[in-house]
Amino acid sequence: MKIKLLSVLILAFVLFGCESSGSSGTQRASAGNQAPNHFNTPLKTVYQDYFPIGNIVNNNYLRGDFFEILKTHFSVVTSENNMKPDHLGPRERGGNYNFAPADNQIRIMAENGIRMHGHTLIWHSQTHRWMTEGTPEQVRENLVNHINTVMAHFKGRVTSWDVVNEAVRERVNPGENYELWRNHLRQESGWFKALGADYIDLAFRTARAADPAVTLYYNDYNLDNSRKAQVVANMVREINARYRSEGNTRNLIEGVGMQAHYGLTTSVPNVRASIERFIALGIEVSISELDVEVRSVGSGSFGIGHSRRLSDMEQRQQAIKYAELFSLFKQYKDHIARVTLWGIDDEHSWKSLGNPCLWDARLQPKQAFFAVANPTEALGIDENH
Ligand code: XIL
Repeated sequence: MKIKLLSVLILAFVLFGCESSGSSGTQRASAGNQAPNHFNTPLKTVYQDYFPIGNIVNNNYLRGDFFEILKTHFSVVTSENNMKPDHLGPRERGGNYNFAPADNQIRIMAENGIRMHGHTLIWHSQTHRWMTEGTPEQVRENLVNHINTVMAHFKGRVTSWDVVNEAVRERVNPGENYELWRNHLRQESGWFKALGADYIDLAFRTARAADPAVTLYYNDYNLDNSRKAQVVANMVREINARYRSEGNTRNLIEGVGMQAHYGLTTSVPNVRASIERFIALGIEVSISELDVEVRSVGSGSFGIGHSRRLSDMEQRQQAIKYAELFSLFKQYKDHIARVTLWGIDDEHSWKSLGNPCLWDARLQPKQAFFAVANPTEALGIDENH
């Protein structure tokens, strides 16, 4: 699909041009030549008839221009790390929980009208080892205690939780039976080793009992891959069917979070097929960790501090992918509960080498930002096309 460069430039001019007139309704935090141009067209306003639009929060983002961007554009956030088991939970069995950083983030976000999504309760990664060591009874108790403690602490302040994160293998092989979802779970997970596949059902039931007001999510990546999506769909279907057969009128797993760590080669039709597969289960979908790398970096190269200047071509290709994704998401607005981006600027992204964000290292909005602000324009298509 051809981008209409001219229209992007015009759009950029219009958006930037508004700034000096102060007609956008939002104010710049600071003046000066280097002050970033990111306070116009709040994305949360652009998408207000579609879905809440989110980003992550971490302690760096609580100040200065990062904070201004968060406040201006986003209505929901996920704590990048501070609500994960290794950040919250004690280093040893019986030790104290450390809720202070997450509490601080929630307080500041709430003061600014930003809601918090909970991420994440049960995961093979970023989890202290003691939690999954010992007899199955002990590990089971650790799982239940962790969920109860954390959900009780955040009760009323977090309305949705990723209960289980990344339980399915990174890659699901072709030609296998995806109905047998248990065969595709991560064997290296400490929870799986101790409790087998049942830890998933247990985690969700514990979470439901801990706080029935919360919407419970299963969250994973590579869900644009139809094989992995089938495994997850079969898991959700079976767990929900069993739960309902016990007389419950509500689903146990109420949403799937598609992390959406994407790249230029991501197939938008595949993303569509997976969204449809999940909503056919009668559950909601959230795009939970969206970023689009301009070049794919291996997991060994993750980390902040390695962004670079993109060529115009790279910027445009990335902008098109973002525009295609957002115009797809808009079509599923009745089923998409939230679209959350994973990071504000390229330099502080967990995948900084891939320059995957909407703002560059100087906090200038990239072409990708304008593409998200107006995907139809960026793609040069009719709304109904
Ligand atoms: C990442 C964070 O962005 C990094 O800061 C951290 O070092 C590792 O985790 N899937 C998830 C997120 O569910 O929690 C991960 O976040 C990215 C992949």
